[in-house]
Amino acid sequence: MVEIRPATFDEIVHLRHAVLRAGRPLESAYYPGDESGAGVHWGAWNGGDLAACVSLYTVEGPSTQLRGAATAPQWRNQGIGEALMRTAIDAWWADQRAPRDLWCNARIAAITLYERLGFVAEGERFEFPHIGPHQRMRWVAP
Ligand SMILES: CC(C)(COP(=O)(O)OP(=O)(O)OC[C@H]1O[C@@H](n2cnc3c(N)ncnc32)[C@H](O)[C@@H]1OP(=O)(O)O)[C@@H](O)C(=O)NCCC(=O)NCCS
Repeated sequence: MVEIRPATFDEIVHLRHAVLRAGRPLESAYYPGDESGAGVHWGAWNGGDLAACVSLYTVEGPSTQLRGAATAPQWRNQGIGEALMRTAIDAWWADQRAPRDLWCNARIAAITLYERLGFVAEGERFEFPHIGPHQRMRWVAP
């Protein structure tokens, strides 16, 4: 049984680092605002194990950026990432103070997942140094 709930940065940073910044220093997994506690973090737990995480940040615009989606390899392709992000997006949408414009920079392999969540591609694909090709995507309210 997977439990999805808000998380602290300390709870999610090691999974984010292991999945998205493997082989680089832990600080490479810190995003702007993490040290000041600016992000909203979510986790999916299976027993005591953190299976997946995702974070939302208020950024320029103001808008809301969904970042750091990561599922531990042994828990992938079981719908956990989608359920986690759906919960995080629902909570964001219900929070009247959060900027309404939600977007993300998707890795190409994850585009279909974001499309299922209601994101649409915006503009041309681009390259993030050391990480690979990405597609900016914007969430469209249903
Ligand atoms: C992307 C990711 C968070 C999805 O988590 P998940 O719990 O496996 O997600 P779900 O089971 O709900 O959905 C599976 C979808 O993930 C995507 N996916 C599967 N393996 C993936 C991989 N190695 N890398 C990126 N995306 C992947 C696919 O789009 C798949 O959808 P499909 O059924 O249309 O092929 C997870 O695969 C992951 O951590 N990948 C590596 C890091 C990453 O790419 N993060 C996203 C940054 S934008």
